[in-house]
Amino acid sequence: MSVRTGFSVTQIRLHWIIAALIVIQFVFHEWMVEAWEIIEKGGTVAYSPLVASHVFGGIAVLLLVLWRLVLRFRRGVPLPPENEPALLQLMAHIVHWSLYALMILMPLSGMAAWFLGVEAAAEAHEIMRIFMLVLVAIHILASLFHHFVLKSGVLLRMKNPSE
Ligand code: HEM
Ligand code: HEM
Repeated sequence: MSVRTGFSVTQIRLHWIIAALIVIQFVFHEWMVEAWEIIEKGGTVAYSPLVASHVFGGIAVLLLVLWRLVLRFRRGVPLPPENEPALLQLMAHIVHWSLYALMILMPLSGMAAWFLGVEAAAEAHEIMRIFMLVLVAIHILASLFHHFVLKSGVLLRMKNPSE
């Protein structure tokens, strides 16, 4: 993996498309929960575009994250900002990799529940959403802290591409 001065256009687009898809997954989850409750009681669920959008939106997140990880390993990513305290670097590392793990495990657990009827996977899916919410909140606050307090230019890395 090579060291870069910034993210590529594709890496930046993928970051924002995936972020938008995840927000949509959270906003439109109610129908999925209702459908799942019906299935758990042994009923059948009629086709609903909102349920389909959760299923396909979630699978899209999985595929796009895999693409993003391939790019990350092949192309590389920028180093942490100069003068960033070691503790902040470590925290960023942990949060980024935990987010990657959740972006893979949430769709996989959802698929195991929806397509294979694994109840434990639905429970794991429900628990993981809390971790996802907390980590995304920390990630956003950290980005804003970097931009407005440390003035390290990190936020602009996800706006302005570099070769
Ligand atoms: C990154 C991708 C995904 C995110 C962020 C996400 C998010 C969510 C959220 C917030 C809920 C509501 C949980 C609750 O309030 O109980 C939910 C429920 C559910 N989702 Fe997803 N989801 C994703 C992918 C998927 C996929 C790909 C599938 C299936 C193919 C799926 C199937 C389900 C099912 C069956 C439920 C209802 C059971 C439960 O509450 O755990 N999800 N999802
Ligand atoms: C669901 C929402 C989001 C998820 C899952 C997410 C996930 C990630 C991940 C995994 C990385 C690490 C990239 C890498 O080094 O491979 C990253 C980087 C970044 N994200 Fe997000 N992100 C989200 C939303 C946001 C938002 C709303 C902002 C702005 C407020 C933001 C700002 C950034 C910035 C500036 C970086 C670059 C950090 C650096 O250069 O070290 N992200 N994001």
